Amino acid sequence: MDKLLKRTIYCGELRSSDIGKTVTVDGWVAKSRSLGAGLIFADIRDRSGIVQVVFGDGTPEEVVAKAASLRTEYSVGVTGVVRERESKNDKIPTGDIEIVASELSVYSESETPPIYIRDDDNVSGELRLKYRYLDLRKPMMQNMLAVRSKLYNVVRNFYYENGFIEVETPVLAKPTPEGARDYLVPSRVNPGKFYALPQSPQQFKQLLMIAGTDRYIQIAKCYGDEDLRADRQPEFTQIDLEMSYVDQDDILEVQERFLQRVFKEMRGIDIQIPLKRLKWDEAMNRYGSDKPDLRFGFELHDLAEAVKGCSFPVFSDALAAGGRVMGININGYSDKFSRKDVDKFAEGAKTYGAKGLVWLRVEADGIRSSVSKFFSNEELRKIADVFEAKENDLILIVASEKKEVVWSSLGFLRRDIAGKLGLLDPNRFELLWVVDFPMFEWSDEEGRYMAMHHPFTSPKKEDIKYMESGELDKVYADAYDIVINGYEAGGGSIRIHDSALQKRVFEVLRLSEEDIRNRFGFFIDAFKYGAPPHGGIAFGLDRLCMLILGTDDIRQVIAFPKNQNAQCVMSDAPTTVNTADLDLLSIQIKKEE
Ligand code: AMO
Repeated sequence: MDKLLKRTIYCGELRSSDIGKTVTVDGWVAKSRSLGAGLIFADIRDRSGIVQVVFGDGTPEEVVAKAASLRTEYSVGVTGVVRERESKNDKIPTGDIEIVASELSVYSESETPPIYIRDDDNVSGELRLKYRYLDLRKPMMQNMLAVRSKLYNVVRNFYYENGFIEVETPVLAKPTPEGARDYLVPSRVNPGKFYALPQSPQQFKQLLMIAGTDRYIQIAKCYGDEDLRADRQPEFTQIDLEMSYVDQDDILEVQERFLQRVFKEMRGIDIQIPLKRLKWDEAMNRYGSDKPDLRFGFELHDLAEAVKGCSFPVFSDALAAGGRVMGININGYSDKFSRKDVDKFAEGAKTYGAKGLVWLRVEADGIRSSVSKFFSNEELRKIADVFEAKENDLILIVASEKKEVVWSSLGFLRRDIAGKLGLLDPNRFELLWVVDFPMFEWSDEEGRYMAMHHPFTSPKKEDIKYMESGELDKVYADAYDIVINGYEAGGGSIRIHDSALQKRVFEVLRLSEEDIRNRFGFFIDAFKYGAPPHGGIAFGLDRLCMLILGTDDIRQVIAFPKNQNAQCVMSDAPTTVNTADLDLLSIQIKKEE
């Protein structure tokens, strides 16, 4: 190693205005090539970008000789004079200039890296995660880190300006009531007892309202031991907030201004507020999803009226059992999909519980359908008319005795097909609130009703009577989600601030007196001392980053994410621990039988 560190500028910042200046850059060799006759070119990369360096044309001979040994990913420093490039490269911001080197320091050499440090390198995700520190050298990943960092700043600026106070809440906490599975942490000093990592700071933020904080914000790490998906990680980050003495409109208004600021500062996009609001029932009936993507149409239509009395048993049985027959119209795209494609759509629908998929194609000379032997031409036309279908429309229909199956399979097809048609423009943002969620949902697994959001969510005042009459399906909640391009980007609710009502909700959830005491006695107690009306929301910060950066893989926006099996393949976490450590924690591992 020689001479050290006196950077004057980042590589990617150099421009024509720097021509003639002597500069020093530090970074990694992205590429080097010898043109012979004492002329070597190297691209040097740092977090800001890449600049071309020339060794030759006046570079001292010993420096050129040293440059001949450069290999990719060597860590180097270069001093030289900026000059105009003969052959300009309009693909990079520094493409008009180059540095003619006079000095070169090799800080450290590099073995041949196991992955290419290039945005367009598509090696397997696992290899990228294993060598994440190299993967993060890629310009796109450096950009991601910078975008994320800027988002933290936008968040803090906005909420601080609006009177929110940042408070850190504990990570070693109590198991989450009614949530997904918790990550548990054994306590050494309390043998046999466990902390849980919080799935959200929900109870703490409500306690802060009781404590008088009035407006709380936290960029909070949260943890959940759930099955992973493209938009779900075992540890993730929430922009978590809570407000006192407010109603739902007050809360949503602040968040709309926040989202407006985010899209303006992060993407230069103007979002019109107030945002659209859809009731949960309407979202399900029109889009088959509580997180509808509004960038395209293909809305669901109910066909109960149009197929009433038909001789097709799949439809008539579903209706007779109190179910639904609904469809979507892929209008104008019938010719884009073959018979085989439609068979694949049916397979997709089946993964959501549908027994099959009926199709109608509207053509110049009539309607073709997979069920034409059960329907007359007039009857098929009647179905098509529900969709105001025209030539080249493709209608897909699902029937089931369970409305949830109809919703979820058509909701899936709607978005899947829009994706295949290239209608999911990542540069267009459709934001909306989904409001008035059901308070309870039946869980087959638990054999009881569960809170759809969480048990501290306030039922709508006018629906409390249905809790008393046991008509739980009729109870809606003051709960809301912010949905962006088909993603649930955040969710929240008005909370119960009356202990009697809270107790009643716990009873409906069939939690025993003892359970309530043990699990959140402290929480109930707090409400005895003047709890203010309050509510809040948490945004998924990772999901906001995904939307801002136009990726559908959450691992692309987290510096050190876990793989699909919740492992860190770089550090090899989780690992086994030795018996002595387990003994200290009074834990014994069960041997596999
Ligand atoms: P909820 O569970 O809806 O609400 O979470 C809020 C938001 O956090 C994001 N999110 C996730 N992102 C990545 N990976 C995950 N595993 C994950 N889980 C959730 C989503 C989601 O909308 N305490 C309540 C909020 C409140 O009522 O104020 C809560 O946690 O974008």
